[in-house]
Amino acid sequence: MDKGKSIGIGLMGLGVVGGGVAKVLADKAEILAGQAGIPLVLKRVLVRELGKQRPVSLKLGCLVTESGEIINDPEIDIVVEVMGGEYPAAEYIREALIRGKHVVTANKEVMAKQGLELLTLAEEHGVELRYEASVGGGIPLIAPFQQDLIANNILAIHAIINGTTNYILTQMAQGGLDFSAALEQAQELGYAEADPSNDVEGMDAAYKLAILATLAFRIQVKPEDVYCEGISRLKACDFRYAHELGYVIKLLAIAKGSDSSIEVRVHPTFIPENIMLAKVDGVYNAVQVEGDLMGKVIFYGEGAGTSPTSSAVVADIMAVAQNIRRGATSSPRLQLGEVKTIKSMLDIETRYYLRLNVADQSGVLAQISKALGDCDISISSVIQKEADPMAKTAELVIMTHPARERAVQQALEEVGQLPVVKEISNFVRVEV
Ligand code: NAP
Ligand code: HSE
Repeated sequence: MDKGKSIGIGLMGLGVVGGGVAKVLADKAEILAGQAGIPLVLKRVLVRELGKQRPVSLKLGCLVTESGEIINDPEIDIVVEVMGGEYPAAEYIREALIRGKHVVTANKEVMAKQGLELLTLAEEHGVELRYEASVGGGIPLIAPFQQDLIANNILAIHAIINGTTNYILTQMAQGGLDFSAALEQAQELGYAEADPSNDVEGMDAAYKLAILATLAFRIQVKPEDVYCEGISRLKACDFRYAHELGYVIKLLAIAKGSDSSIEVRVHPTFIPENIMLAKVDGVYNAVQVEGDLMGKVIFYGEGAGTSPTSSAVVADIMAVAQNIRRGATSSPRLQLGEVKTIKSMLDIETRYYLRLNVADQSGVLAQISKALGDCDISISSVIQKEADPMAKTAELVIMTHPARERAVQQALEEVGQLPVVKEISNFVRVEV
């Protein structure tokens, strides 16, 4: 097909997401051409290994292993990067933009670490860089932040934005699975990244939160600004106690803004079981955004996997294609606002769940509550659980009233030194 009579696409990556994108472009070619007003033609696909079995059948010669065959191809208008990882993906995106190609990416790591530079580069070269699939899989989030929510001062984001960990936490809470069995299932279903440590340790959610917080608060939030704690410290008993106390445990990505600072953090969180976020289970994601005008809005849907993610990638391709056909370049601009500081984690204030293994003898509770009280931490409830008569120990579960993290860390250090305290087994932040 002649250049100008079709839009050429170069796909970089043919894995979980790339395979889905190639399939949608083939299966829905006619509908997409109708809606874009011009056919979309998949010209070339970059992979590492030519011999691998692929989920879609492609034209002979379509698969390539050299990025230059896409970046330098004059018939390719849109480069779709779905390889993953920071390098070489970021370099390929940069080269494509410089060569005047529009770019669509699902790569949260690149967008979190280098997004602002790349968006500026795209603007300088009069091309678009879209990244809807980088956060929340099939859930529209980037476009709403760029457009529909723009009149609001964003006050807070509370988000479940990692499908793998939400799937694992759900299986542990409801299915009684242990951590490794639940992770294995998540990998089989294509939710987890090849290296699941980014999911499990919270980095994947931190990248996504950095992208959302940058859009929401109009300041550059880098991944290293986000306090990040994964789910591997949670034990089966934490889920039981949470349930008894009327909570569920979610890996929550939280961003809160004030006039002068923002806090950005990802960590396991107790949330009341009757709120909407508590009902977001399995691979589903949900992002609750609170704005000064709109109040609370929740975006909910499938946050990972082939089809939902392809939906977002193809939507971006379509938006670019429509703009190319109209002769317009309308990459949404990201205008940064006033500088704000990132709040230290020690200055956040929230409630805490503490689980301690203690000597099962009189006076223990008094010693612990004194240590907490000395640091100005007020207890809201205490339950003594699962005494072990052989070891003469008991498990204490304590919920606090709101307290400063700095005070809680100091108190835990002092509590840990009490001879009657065998172990501080866990502490989890609570959001209401
Ligand atoms: P994946 O299944 O591992 O696929 C990666 C693809 O990229 C493979 O086809 C691989 O080629 C190719 N590739 C990787 N490095 C390459 C290199 N250096 N040169 C050439 N080809 C290379 O990954 P994925 O799950 O589709 O994820 C892709 C991107 O989408 C990532 O940025 C991810 O964070 C993002 N994302 C994923 C999901 C999801 O549900 N999986 C959801 C939202 C966003 P071979 O096939 O030859 O190995
Ligand atoms: N591994 C990611 C998740 C894929 O589990 O949410 C979507 O970005």
